Amino acid sequence: MSRKILVTSALPYANGSIHLGHLVEYIQTDIWVRFQKLRGHECTYVCADDAHGTAIMLKAEQNGITPEEQIANVKAEHEQDFSDFQIQFDNFHSTHSEENRELSELIYNRLVENGHIASRTITQAYDPEKELFLADRYIKGTCPKCKSEDQYGDNCEVCSATYSPTDLINPTSVISGATPIQKESEHFFFKLPEFEDFLQKWTRAGHLQTEMANKLAEWLDAGLQEWDISRDAPYFGFEIPGHPGKYFYVWLDAPIGYFASFKNLCDKTGKNWEDYCLDDGKGDPKLSNGTELYHFIGKDIVNFHALFWPAMLHSAKFRTPTAVCVHGFLTVNGKKMSKSRGTFINARTYLNHLKPDYLRYYFAAKLSNAVDDLDLNLDDFIQRVNSDLVGKVVNIASRTARFVQKSGGQLSSTIENESLWQQFVDASDTIADFYEQREFAKAMREIMNLADAANEYIAAKEPWALAKVEGNEQAVLDICTLGINMFRVITTYLKPVLPVLAANAEAFLNEELSWDKEITFKKDHTINKFKPLLNRVEKDQVEAMVEASKEALIQANSATESNSKPDSELSKEPLADEIDFNAFAKVDLRVAKIVKAAHVEGADKLLQLTLDLGGETRNVFSGIKSAYKPEDLEGKLTIMVANLAPRKMKFGLSEGMVLAAGPGGKEIYLLEPHDGAQPGMRVM
Ligand code: MSP
Ligand code: ZN
Repeated sequence: MSRKILVTSALPYANGSIHLGHLVEYIQTDIWVRFQKLRGHECTYVCADDAHGTAIMLKAEQNGITPEEQIANVKAEHEQDFSDFQIQFDNFHSTHSEENRELSELIYNRLVENGHIASRTITQAYDPEKELFLADRYIKGTCPKCKSEDQYGDNCEVCSATYSPTDLINPTSVISGATPIQKESEHFFFKLPEFEDFLQKWTRAGHLQTEMANKLAEWLDAGLQEWDISRDAPYFGFEIPGHPGKYFYVWLDAPIGYFASFKNLCDKTGKNWEDYCLDDGKGDPKLSNGTELYHFIGKDIVNFHALFWPAMLHSAKFRTPTAVCVHGFLTVNGKKMSKSRGTFINARTYLNHLKPDYLRYYFAAKLSNAVDDLDLNLDDFIQRVNSDLVGKVVNIASRTARFVQKSGGQLSSTIENESLWQQFVDASDTIADFYEQREFAKAMREIMNLADAANEYIAAKEPWALAKVEGNEQAVLDICTLGINMFRVITTYLKPVLPVLAANAEAFLNEELSWDKEITFKKDHTINKFKPLLNRVEKDQVEAMVEASKEALIQANSATESNSKPDSELSKEPLADEIDFNAFAKVDLRVAKIVKAAHVEGADKLLQLTLDLGGETRNVFSGIKSAYKPEDLEGKLTIMVANLAPRKMKFGLSEGMVLAAGPGGKEIYLLEPHDGAQPGMRVM
């Protein structure tokens, strides 16, 4: 029977790029969704950008753009990354949307009606210069216990002490450098403790992995606290109805964004969002209106999804999730992803060097339904992809296709080895079960066992030797027909993981591979000419990707033209990590002539420079206004980074960066070029 399933991945924050860590989740979810669809179920996969909060507001300011521009830029980037990784959302929306405002207000109002919202005045750290309440992570100071300097507001990285920001010695605001003051304000709280009984049951009712349920039991036993769901202006988010200047905390409206994205889709397709989102009142913990709901998330955000969220939904008479599926964190070469090692790899950097199918397969080959961390070992990655996909899977087709081609491209009408074929048919249920249980590694092992069996069969039969003797044509065709059929089945089982490989194989096999009915043997069917389906991963591609990830760091560090960090912060910035010569050589330094320099309306630090690069003209915004009058700059030569990716800023597109030296403030020195420098000349 066809199931109706709604699936979500966590909503990525709109202040950063997608990296390989995120992709563990989106690839895991996408494989599961593609599997459900391939099996004939009505499965819908929605996601959105998580667009609200202080971090995004500050990021936009840093980039010199409005929050709306910030989230639009990032959304376009995220969508391109996801689509290039074959992550096939049915809808990708934003939490900063009308649907989300509506649903957030609806749910909040119901919480209020049910008496589940409390309000009281609290005292909090406040940045008097920036006029902003400060979350703990925006305060730094000296640890009250071990006296280490430069520690964050709630814990010391040196001695591991935890404390309240008011205990810090010499606290400062990370945003302005000012000394925080204590200030009162009214906040709204969700009365989570009233849901203790409900949550005790819910977390033990099969919605969670056992290890997660155990973890939550610890929290529940320790006692629940009321949850602060409001923030004061200035804040980028939704204003709380009836309370001007108060906003929903980003984590209140973020999960509601799942439903908002789905509703946005339903409004376009005519599907009924209530069937998937509202409680039908029948008390079935897994189904509501016959529909299922699954959230895929990382282990860092379990409290939001398995405590606050089900409690809110329960109060507001929305349905609770069928399951929350939690995965662990990605490590690379056994360690936390690291910018200096080049293992903090952005989705785009990966795509510039390698095919998405490789990573999808590698993650699948390592994923289970446990919450364990997952390691991307780059040597193992090369070895595994080459040996399994190229050496085993594609090999089956490449060794047999040409003999079918030779005899006219049509498969024969006999099954050369019935019992071998039956193994392939019988594996279907086991593999499907593994997919359903999110035991992808086990599914991949099962599939590779089939591939081994297929290769052994072909190696033993040696069709290439048989083909040399006249009169063996039919025997060769029968062997290769079985070979092609085994390849068909393997590709079908891999289709949720490897959509590109499957599409190429379908073109070659001249059919669409489906898995919603019993697996059948394809006879008397004409196939197309075989083209190489997948190239080997080469070590130098992986090395280039790692190098490029180190480079991305140089750009990120130097992109501080409009950085709003106070000077005290900037001067404390450590030197960037060492780069090798190749990385440095990729920075294209050119002599540029400043043909025009102008003030930028509304910007305190920026000048708009028109640069002549020896024929080519560039527009660059540069944060050197404090040191130069525009008219003094015109006609001067300077050095610029000419191949820096253009950046969209509030004031326009910045197409490069001018190099200047000095301590900042009034003292910034432009390099005085030597005689004979010409615009466009490369500097090395
Ligand atoms: N915006 C919140 C989620 C709101 S959902 C209503 C958020 N965003 S995130 O961008 O930080 O993370 C998105 C997802 O990626 C989360 O599930 C997170 O656990 C996952 N991961 C982020 N870094 C990761 C790794 N290094 N490894 C594996 N998953 C990781 O949290
Ligand atoms: Zn300390």
